[in-house]
This record gives sequence, structure tokens and C-alpha cells, in this order.
Amino acid sequence: MSDRKKVTIPRLFQKVTSGEPITWLTCYDYPTAYLQEEAGIDMILVGDSLGMTMLGYESTLPVTMEDMIRHSQAVRRGAPNVFLVGDMPYMSYQISNEIAIRNAGRFMAEAGCDAIKLEGGAEMAPRIQSIVAAGIPAIGHLGLTPQSVSALGGFRVQGKGALAAKKIIDDAKALENAGAFAILLEMVPDRVCQLITERAENCIIMSLGSGPHAHGQLLIYHDMFGLYPRFKPRMAKVFGNAGEVILNGLKGYVQEVSDKSFPQPENWFGMPDEEYQELKKLLK
Ligand code: KIV
Repeated sequence: MSDRKKVTIPRLFQKVTSGEPITWLTCYDYPTAYLQEEAGIDMILVGDSLGMTMLGYESTLPVTMEDMIRHSQAVRRGAPNVFLVGDMPYMSYQISNEIAIRNAGRFMAEAGCDAIKLEGGAEMAPRIQSIVAAGIPAIGHLGLTPQSVSALGGFRVQGKGALAAKKIIDDAKALENAGAFAILLEMVPDRVCQLITERAENCIIMSLGSGPHAHGQLLIYHDMFGLYPRFKPRMAKVFGNAGEVILNGLKGYVQEVSDKSFPQPENWFGMPDEEYQELKKLLK
């Protein structure tokens, strides 16, 4: 088990100050969390993208708080020192400040999260403010916000035109003023991300497909290892094709069981001769 120090908000701001980019990945299960902790990842997002990557839904909308808590708990067990962010699922915060605080609190109390993330601009500032006032660190999420994919017209870049970009920049300031200590920009043009990063006074700006000028980068784990079969977004670099390795292994298993080359003696457990003779007597 890794002996690294727990990653905290002051540690994240230290990295910003010293110009060291912050590393952030999604993760939904214990063994992957263990590996991410060992690799020295700073932050993990238990994203509601688990609805698509782990549960096979077409979108993130059917994901429940129960799903999120169960997966966040598993991730925390595998990665005790990573800065763990719970992603608030659809309708767990949109309705009222009170419901938002209650559900944010569940991530902290039941899953040991360090912060929560929620989607939306200035209209969500009161939610961020209430959650932060309850003592829970909050992260905003702007640009392509998957819970609003229908209203946004699909999974596409946001803020390409000057007016739309201005709205994202204003939204970022509203979330920062409401107390968000970090904001994720998903699929926003690099120049817009740069402007937001330059204007951030006390807020960490993270990029997912929004270029290199943020304080750090986020990727979806399943995209970076070829583990999501439906599509691969352009912003996701494939760092290793685990999907292909696993598929080849599965084909090998099917082959070896079929041709009886698996199992071999080293793959099973024997019994002493005398015990076997005794057993046969007992069975007579
Ligand atoms: O759920 C998730 O993984 C996310 C990312 C798309 C940022 O919110």
C-alpha cells in the first residue's frame, strides 16, 4: 500500500502556486482506485459517467445517489490518500439548496469524500454557496455538462462564439464568488479556458478537453484505456489499450477451456491418497 501523504486542498493550491499541473482521473471501483493511488494521481472523480462506463446506460441521467455512494465507498477503500470528489447525480441538487446540502453531506459522511462536484453556471451559485456554508468543499462544472446534454444539443464543444464564451467566463466568476474552490471546464475552447484561468483569483481551474492552460487535467479513465466500447471522444488520448489486452485474454480463456489445455495441475488442488481411499470407503 502506498505511503504517500493525504492530498488536501492546501496541497492542491500549493501545486497551483508552484506551477505544477494537478492530475485528476475518474474512477469507479476498488482495484482501479488502488492503481491510481499507486501511480500518484492527485484527485479522483467518482463521476456520474459511471452510469455509462460501468452500468451501460445511454446517458448519466438514470444514476442515483445510491449508485454514487456505493462506488465512492469502493474507491475510497482503494485510494485512501487521493483527494476524492463525489459527483452529484441528476436531480440530487437541482431542486433546492436543502436537498443539495443533504446529498452533498452523504458523499462526505457515507463515502469519505473530500469534496463534491456539480454541474451548472450562475444559476447554481446558490447551491454552491449553501453547500460550502455547510462546510463541504464544492467544485463547479461548466462547458459541456452531460446532465444537460439534451438542452445543449449533444456532446459538442461549448463557448465557441464570443457571446457563449462570455457567458462561460461570467459563470466561472459567479461560481468562484459563491465559494467553489475549483471549476472543471469540459470541452471549452483553449483560449476561453486560458482567460478563465488567468482571471481566477482563488479557484483552481481544471481542463477536460479544454487545453493546456488550466491548473490541471482530467480524463475519463475508461477512455484513456480503451475500456468504453461505444465511442472515444477526441479529447481522450489512449494511454494503453487495456480493452484489447482483456479481449485477447478472454479469447484465450475460451480457446483453452474449449480445447482442454486449461486447467493444468498447477491450477487445481489435490487430496492425499490415504484421505481419498478413506473417502471412498465412507462412500461405499
Ligand atoms: O461524470 C463524470 O465523469 C464527469 C466528467 C465528464 C467530467 O462529470
